[in-house]
Amino acid sequence: MPEAILEVRGLVKHYPLTRGILFKKQIGSVKAVDGVDLDLLAGETLGIVGESGCGKSTLAKMLVHLERPTAGAIRYKGEDVTKLSGRALKAVRRNIQMVFQDPYTSLNPRMTVGDIIGEPYEIHPEVAPKGSRRQKVQELLDVVGLDPEYVNRYPHQFSGGQRQRIGIARGLALQPEIIVADEPVSALDVSVQAQVVNLLERLQSDFSLSYVFIAHDLSIVRHISDRVGVMYLGRIVELGEDAEIYDHPTHPYTQALLSAVPVPDPEARVHRERVILTGDVPSPAHIPSGCRFRTRCWKAQERCALEVPLLAVPAVFRLTEGPARHDSACHFAEEKHVVPHEEPPRPRPLESEPEA
Ligand SMILES: Nc1ncnc2c1ncn2[C@@H]1O[C@H](COP(=O)(O)OP(=O)(O)OP(=O)(O)O)[C@@H](O)[C@H]1O
Ligand code: SF4
Ligand SMILES: [Mg+2]
Repeated sequence: MPEAILEVRGLVKHYPLTRGILFKKQIGSVKAVDGVDLDLLAGETLGIVGESGCGKSTLAKMLVHLERPTAGAIRYKGEDVTKLSGRALKAVRRNIQMVFQDPYTSLNPRMTVGDIIGEPYEIHPEVAPKGSRRQKVQELLDVVGLDPEYVNRYPHQFSGGQRQRIGIARGLALQPEIIVADEPVSALDVSVQAQVVNLLERLQSDFSLSYVFIAHDLSIVRHISDRVGVMYLGRIVELGEDAEIYDHPTHPYTQALLSAVPVPDPEARVHRERVILTGDVPSPAHIPSGCRFRTRCWKAQERCALEVPLLAVPAVFRLTEGPARHDSACHFAEEKHVVPHEEPPRPRPLESEPEA
């Protein structure tokens, strides 16, 4: 088994909730990320899925050090990055880069593509000394499938897919080992999504990258991920290999999410069991006691309000073998096939990779 390149333990980000304009008084906190444990293995793609507001972007920003955690550890090759500062932190940050969701707002409209992609070299001149930057940037444009001659153009002269390629080139500029991609294709047209996903896969194998891939589209996450973590209200509630999560989910929340995925085959649609979630997602400022999913869980019992279920292989599966034996934070975990086996949620047909 490959080693963990990133180990996340007990990661927490609480934002203070304040009242008053001049004299701010803290009246609570928004628990955006509330105790996340996960490993990113070298060379893998770890997918993260979950509803809007569950803390995916906050988690991503902490992984790339754009946000400081309230508590917890992020160990990169064994060293806790949250304790580093100065030159040591800078060296680690170089190796963990981010690709953002929105290619329209994440690129500065007043900078040329060459300046955007080459900007990280201002902070890390050791990667590309001044004289070699233009050539490096042109190489990067070529790597992401754009014409190196575009180096002097501005972002508005590109399509959405091309802009995301520019964002990816910028993410690659410092030759990182890890890329955290937060909804990298969500803002793109369906046909372009496939091309960008293909590009990310090719780059992963060419440059031995490890990916954290965040998205709310379950089909895309299944297509690209080796393992998948399902997030709910600031925590990972189920974690396993993609087939374990998609074909053998044991957490009621995952089962509900999967049951909402459209099934193209009408025959399979008739036989599938739907799980309809009731109620709204609670506010991250008021997280329910015990199991945080209990207010919407059709299986909730008294124990669920009293005891926090830990993310581990549930006792019922500990002595078994097979795909149901994976981490699931539920006191009453059981397998439920919500997506018909014959017809797993297929990724959209992926085309070859022409220019987006
Ligand atoms: N700077 C901030 N200050 C206060 N609350 C914040 C801040 N950033 C995020 N939050 C809150 O933290 C929670 C998690 O937000 P986050 O953006 O991480 O969710 P998400 O899973 O990425 O959602 P989406 O799928 O919509 O992108 C939300 O309730 C959000 O309102
Ligand atoms: S612990 Fe209880 S409330 Fe939480 S998911 Fe399991 S059954 Fe539902
Ligand atoms: Mg987000």
